[in-house]
Amino acid sequence: MELIIAANWKMHKTAAETAEFCAQLRLQEGRFSKVEVLLCPPFTALAAAAAALEGSTIKLGAQNISWEEKGAYTGEIAPRMLKEFGVSHVILGHSERRHIFGEDDTVIRKKLERALHEGLLPILCIGETEAQRSAKKTASVLERQLHAALEGLDPESVGKLVIAYEPVWAIGTGQAASPDDAAAAASLAHAVVEKILGDKVGSALRVQYGGSVNAGNIGGFVSLPPVNGALVGGASLEPDSFAELIVAAGEAAGH
Ligand code: PGA
Repeated sequence: MELIIAANWKMHKTAAETAEFCAQLRLQEGRFSKVEVLLCPPFTALAAAAAALEGSTIKLGAQNISWEEKGAYTGEIAPRMLKEFGVSHVILGHSERRHIFGEDDTVIRKKLERALHEGLLPILCIGETEAQRSAKKTASVLERQLHAALEGLDPESVGKLVIAYEPVWAIGTGQAASPDDAAAAASLAHAVVEKILGDKVGSALRVQYGGSVNAGNIGGFVSLPPVNGALVGGASLEPDSFAELIVAAGEAAGH
């Protein structure tokens, strides 16, 4: 299964910085042949990214969407506005959206349905907090988040899906999960999605690990079969080291 390595830039990079990054990354693109690479810049940099990536296989994702199609929703961005720039993916349920901006399972479900309806491929983030982990509730938290987002969806409408397992305590802390723990969570996600949505969605599903991934530790994650890529924050902000991370992932996964 092809790996998917996605860059989540969060609130970093202007349009000019994005164009420069894309130009630099493209110099190394020939080395990424078997890895699907996705950049998720801020909304304001999407046009610059789209222009700089023209003719490239590097794809574009958004970090958020409105659950509404259009209308009187000040400050919101609709999927159709993003598709105009060639955006194909959207990150949903990221822990920063859940914990800083108060998005709960209901909001995430509405956004997921909107993404599917508009033909954007969701990267659904799930993950436990430090307290939930200490209380040995990781599996039940992941199951609850997956059920809330996916239960009752028509498998035909889902098609492809990406889940990002991102333990909250590992995001931006420099303290990544162990590859074994990431693989255990990824296998649970594969099993739960297959149970909820059936074999067809299950077999197309890719599960990423996210949380303090870098070029040095990526190999340990993607060499374990349930882990099909990574969602990368801090280590995706500099083009040369992000390129090294992508190459290391491809090598470790045996491509
Ligand atoms: P990090 O962020 O790689 O900086 O830990 C990952 C994420 O939030 O997706």
